[in-house]
Amino acid sequence: MMIIITGTPGCGKTSISNILANKIGAKLISINYLLDNYDLNMGTDELRGYRIVDIDKMMPLVDKIKGECEDGTIIFEGHLAQDYPNADKIIVLRCNPTELKKRLDARDWSDRKIQENIEAEILGICTQESYETYGDIVQEVETSTLTPEEVTDIIIDIIDDKKSYPLGQIDYLEEFFHLLD
Ligand SMILES: Nc1ncnc2c1ncn2[C@@H]1O[C@H](COP(=O)(O)OP(=O)(O)O)[C@@H](O)[C@H]1O
Ligand SMILES: [Mg+2]
Repeated sequence: MMIIITGTPGCGKTSISNILANKIGAKLISINYLLDNYDLNMGTDELRGYRIVDIDKMMPLVDKIKGECEDGTIIFEGHLAQDYPNADKIIVLRCNPTELKKRLDARDWSDRKIQENIEAEILGICTQESYETYGDIVQEVETSTLTPEEVTDIIIDIIDDKKSYPLGQIDYLEEFFHLLD
């Protein structure tokens, strides 16, 4: 089984995927790892400040990793992982924009990059993109009011089909649209 963990930078993908992979003994692959180790870099998105991955090249690579681990569980983590269409589950991590700003302010990023990512979170861009690829199997988990361990336990329940966090529960637009530039 492959589970995609996606979300705006700062929502907690890397922290949670690491805890999750350790806890359930899953193989973890991240887009950043693939970018560092394979020739997939198509340049940098200057606005939001991340490396652009060559999706056409990434596809067969992830298929191959998935094929090699058919009996196990793979966590595939990254803010563009939603473009990969062959996962079994997909979870978008969400973060309240006020809390996200605090998390991103702690990074050595320009105000512009921080603002772009906060806007992406307010608009639910990762959710929209995930929905385009996966439709209503997409689930969303809010990370701003919970600890990483609590979020991890929720994700384990989603993986085990014990709980469901369908789309339509999390919406920051009404409260935060005034922060859009
Ligand atoms: N409930 C939570 N879930 C995930 N991260 C959290 C949570 N609460 C606080 N954080 C903090 O937010 C930051 C998220 O960073 P990171 O995991 O690198 O996110 P991403 O990979 O999505 O950019 C970390 O510093 C983490 O400790
Ligand atoms: Mg990360």
